[in-house]
Amino acid sequence: GTGKFFVGGNWKCNGTKESITKLVSDLNSATLEPDVDVVVAPPFVYIDQVKNSLTERIDISAQNSWVQKGGAFTGEISVEQLKDIGCNWVVLGHSERRHIIGEDNQFIGKKAAYALIEGLGVIACIGELLQEREAGKTFEVCYQQLKAFADAVPSWDNIVIAYEPVWAIGTGKVATPQQAQEVHIAVRDWLKKNVSDEVASKTRIIYGGSVNGSNCAELAKQEDIDGFLVGGASLKGPEFATIVNSVT
Ligand code: G3H
Repeated sequence: GTGKFFVGGNWKCNGTKESITKLVSDLNSATLEPDVDVVVAPPFVYIDQVKNSLTERIDISAQNSWVQKGGAFTGEISVEQLKDIGCNWVVLGHSERRHIIGEDNQFIGKKAAYALIEGLGVIACIGELLQEREAGKTFEVCYQQLKAFADAVPSWDNIVIAYEPVWAIGTGKVATPQQAQEVHIAVRDWLKKNVSDEVASKTRIIYGGSVNGSNCAELAKQEDIDGFLVGGASLKGPEFATIVNSVT
């Protein structure tokens, strides 16, 4: 792998004050390998609760951010507000926002640029749909999504790329270590050709899609898998800790 192992827990639109109190308490008492960056992304409304109760060992991410400075944008949350409540990261380009909400490459690129300029780290998600994989378009789709980020961002210093094949998200159908590794190395090669050798070698590329406590170790052994973005299994403290501790 490249750089420090990075594991993110994306809680998506799940949880209550009560369930999150329990999850935070389980995370606070978990033993986590020291050499891993660990981040959780609660729903916006619970970020403050989590910030005030979670160990500082674990960083906090938002699941989305507005594309520019705040103002008259009903229902949106600005990067400035996220920083104000102690959030250091944001997940952008998640497949659920691309394919359910309808965010496009260009809009996602702009969001990433704004968040980076204002000082958030960005977990930049890419990944193909099942029909795109079946049509042999996996690399093409991932490259287009990467290009939209590359064309917009001022720097790659605070970006972690999350490769999440859409067919693997929430389906229990995890990519094989070989399937994931093949795309991760292609992403790294793309960065080498289109950004720089330095960015290619130092940018962490993490895998997401049905990662759990049982399949993480085999995935983590792959040369170009530098961590995970975990959905469902991140809602269980002990299992999330197992995934964090799969660092090799
Ligand atoms: O952001 C996380 C991914 O969408 C993976 O979700 O682990 O529930 O498949 P999952």
